[in-house]
Formats: sequence, C-alpha cells, structure tokens
Amino acid sequence: MIEIFPDLHTLSDAAARLFVNQARRAIEARGRFSVALAGGSTPSHTYELLARPPFRDRVPWPKVHVLWRDERCVPADDPRSNYRMARQALLDHVPIPVEQIHPIPGSQKPSEAADCYETLLRGFFGGRPPRFDMVFLGLDENGHTASLFPGTAVLEERQRWVAEVDVAEQDVFRVALTAPLLNQAAVVVFLVTGAAKATVLHEVLDGPHDSSRLPAQLIRPTDGELRWLVDRTAASMVVHEAPERTRVL
Ligand code: 6PG
Repeated sequence: MIEIFPDLHTLSDAAARLFVNQARRAIEARGRFSVALAGGSTPSHTYELLARPPFRDRVPWPKVHVLWRDERCVPADDPRSNYRMARQALLDHVPIPVEQIHPIPGSQKPSEAADCYETLLRGFFGGRPPRFDMVFLGLDENGHTASLFPGTAVLEERQRWVAEVDVAEQDVFRVALTAPLLNQAAVVVFLVTGAAKATVLHEVLDGPHDSSRLPAQLIRPTDGELRWLVDRTAASMVVHEAPERTRVL
C-alpha cells in the first residue's frame, strides 16, 4: 500500500501512530515489540514525535526492544552514527531499559561488527524465525535503502543475516541487515519525502525489476505488510490509478 500525505509533518504523524499501534499489538500478542530503526533525516521527525506526548504516553516502553537495520562504521558519538541520531531524537527521552537497546557496534572492524550483530540477533530471536515486528526504511536518490547500495555484494547475500558493506563512493564501511532478513518482518515501512526522490520512487514502484541498480526493490516481505508512507512531492510521478494500491490522504 502506498499512502500519500500532504507533507513531512502529516507523514511523520501517521508513522508515529503506526508505531504505537504495532507496539501495542505485538506486546499484547507476544509480550514484546521489536523494531529495527532507520538512519537518515526523514525518520528523525517520527522519532521526535514519539519522544513527546501524546505519542510518548501511548507506548509501553518497558516492553520495547530497539535494534538497527544498518550502521556506519563510526564510533557511537560520531555525528554520522544512526545510533546517535536515534538516541538524541528518541531513546534518551523514553523509559526503555538500556539492556533492550541493541546498537550495531560501529567501532569494531566491519566484518567483526557484522558477525557480532548476527550473533546478537540469533540470541534475540532465540531459535524462532527472525521476525521484527516493525522495520523502518528510507529511500535514497540512488535507489539504496538501509545500507543496501547499488552493485554491492550484500545484495546477493542469502545466508547471512548481517553483512559488512564497502561503499566505494562513501568514506566509511557500513554494516547492514540483509534483504532476506528484513523481508521476514511483520511490517516494513518506507518513509520517503521530497521532490528529489520523485524519479527514484517512480522507478522503484512502477519501473521494471532491476534490484542491482535499485536495491529498494529487494524489499518484499514474505509474510508481512509493506507500507510506503510518502509525501505528495515524492509521489508526484507515481502511477496511482489503482485505488487498491494507493491512498491519497
Ligand atoms: C542512512 C541510510 C539511508 C537513508 C536514505 C534516506 O542514511 O542511514 O543509509 O538508507 O535511509 O538515504 O535518507 P533520508 O530519509 O535522509 O532522505
């Protein structure tokens, strides 16, 4: 489902509501809520909303478990750290037990950090299918999502849950949850805003399948829900004749 919002604020409000609903539903069903957070600037608005009333008061924070879908290999206090962004926008302001916050160890060697996080995730899911209750994703103008970059080896990964990613045009290595793992989530939510994303969003949603150029196309939950929360400017080129596919809000 593609939901088209007037602007970033209404989109972020809807994403925060979705978080609250998913959290309550998962906690009622299984006693805990596991969420894989995104980096990037778009989700930070959602995190900031969740950190304040009224949303803050609607989430059973002591039952929330926070993980990350990717990280840059930088120390935790580096401005490029996804963990740092989430802490500043959300985690420092809500009562989640510290042992339920699981950052990717960005200071380690990339391959070691990936193996270490995979071990952590295997323990976290404890022999059950690795199904996050919710995963946040963004979409970059170059078609990448999370740290699944065009033309990188991680796109072919089918065995590992977590892998290191060498991104030629960036100055840092990254660690990424792989597409097969992300696709096991119950709900995957893309947050996409701004005119600069219009072409790539159209290509990802309406174009032919070409996931080595547009890795976001790899995200297809096997037994879960895929939600695209986008704003009007980002959606300006998306084909939305089919009412069962798009909803304009
Ligand atoms: C990151 C991610 C990236 C991001 C997109 C969208 O920055 O951590 O690698 O996937 O989600 O680039 O970012 P914006 O939401 O800032 O446009």
